[in-house]
Amino acid sequence: MRVCVIGTGYVGLVTGVCLSHIGHDVICVDNNEEKVKLMQAGQSPIYEPGLSELMKSSSEAGKLQFTSDLAKGVEHGEILFIAVGTPPLPTGESDTRYVEAVARGIGAHLNGGYKVIVNKSTVPIGSGDWVRMIVLDGIAERQKALVTAGGGISTLEENIGGNFDVVSNPEFLREGSAVYDTFNPDRIVLGGNSDRAIAMMQELYQPLVDRSFAEDKSLPPVPVVVTDLSSAEMIKYAANSFLATKISFINEVANICDRVGADVTQVAKGIGLDSRIGSKFLQAGLGWGGSCFPKDVSALIHTADDYGYDAELLKAAVTVNQRQRLVTLEKLQHELKILKGKTVGLLGLTFKPDTDDMRDAPALNLIEQLNRLGAKVKAYDPIVSQSGLSHGLSGVIIESNAEMLADGCDALVLVTDWQEFLKLDFTKMAKVMIQPLIIDGRNFLDRQAVQDAGFRYVGIGR
Ligand code: UDX
Repeated sequence: MRVCVIGTGYVGLVTGVCLSHIGHDVICVDNNEEKVKLMQAGQSPIYEPGLSELMKSSSEAGKLQFTSDLAKGVEHGEILFIAVGTPPLPTGESDTRYVEAVARGIGAHLNGGYKVIVNKSTVPIGSGDWVRMIVLDGIAERQKALVTAGGGISTLEENIGGNFDVVSNPEFLREGSAVYDTFNPDRIVLGGNSDRAIAMMQELYQPLVDRSFAEDKSLPPVPVVVTDLSSAEMIKYAANSFLATKISFINEVANICDRVGADVTQVAKGIGLDSRIGSKFLQAGLGWGGSCFPKDVSALIHTADDYGYDAELLKAAVTVNQRQRLVTLEKLQHELKILKGKTVGLLGLTFKPDTDDMRDAPALNLIEQLNRLGAKVKAYDPIVSQSGLSHGLSGVIIESNAEMLADGCDALVLVTDWQEFLKLDFTKMAKVMIQPLIIDGRNFLDRQAVQDAGFRYVGIGR
């Protein structure tokens, strides 16, 4: 099928590349010309395992193109994905101005054939109908311009208005495993009120439903959940809010464990084996960050508020998460007492491993508070240190490896659970520290091994 993906951020680029890999003809559109040039040259603007390789093979096979020309993309696609950002406004609402601009642009360039316009961006509930209206506006503006230019309206122009449908198709991929998640989905959600549009979306995703590109091809087909527009939009918010609340829940349990002397890792195992609870997303630590959970939970709280409902549970999940970010700071103060003049080394900076994303990363709050208390902060992160980019970070010295980080530190804090931290030479690191103390902010390290290497080990809730 002919696909156009508008917006080559995380979701858009991964979607475009993966759809081209399963056999579709994809054009990705972005208004950032420099980014388009980079992608045309075969380079991925984001770090995501496996993505560059697929980008290269699809481009070589002629299945994937990049352009800044929206008209070209709209003309090409039978299915048009809107995948631009909906960043949070200071109020917690989503900023939908990019979605609006794209929808208007689509309207301005729609040609004769039937098209499905897919909302892939995480948009406020009710946006499906709103997008339809904006597209119609875009068409009307074009028609007006044609009349003003003296061209009159052709039959083609008159017909466009009824020749598209809007579908909501939320995205559940995780950063760092986005390609894997796309080929191995738990479910595909399609919201809309047009049978024709839903049928086209089902055809588009058939290779994924059949698991033709999945790791385990023997599993039954991927469930496709077909709903109305608003329910599909709500599924995205509810899924992310549930997962964020689940993490806040286990973090609260961890804080109680700390006080009563229980071990949250054992508790998580014990409760996670109950199939009604499930073992995933029960890892206590520094709390959730990134581009999705904070934004989506706030947006759902805001929507509830707009409709006169006080979403107390979700608000509590946010409060617990804010407090959790500074749990390692409390532990540092407990161990070192005065932090002024002490040197603290952070292992990891990104909000989670296998990504270069620093958006809403717990490390940022920790750095700010350590600086405020007069501590010197150093950090080593496998991606941030390598990329040579400081990611706009201030108040922190970036070291190029873990041993240099440990040198002269009074304490280390493991902030991100990068796999490579499991293989560090802790014996060597302990020797170059002022005091070999480590706060494991993700309960990630082998406690015994680290202690054997000479460290005093402090975890979260254990
Ligand atoms: C999330 C959702 O998982 C995904 O479905 C959605 O499409 C986008 O948002 P992502 O933000 O990439 O994906 O990261 P995820 O792996 O879900 O982790 C989110 C945060 O929760 C991270 O900060 C992570 O460190 C934290 N986390 C996760 C925990 O603290 N404990 C856990 O048990 C799991």
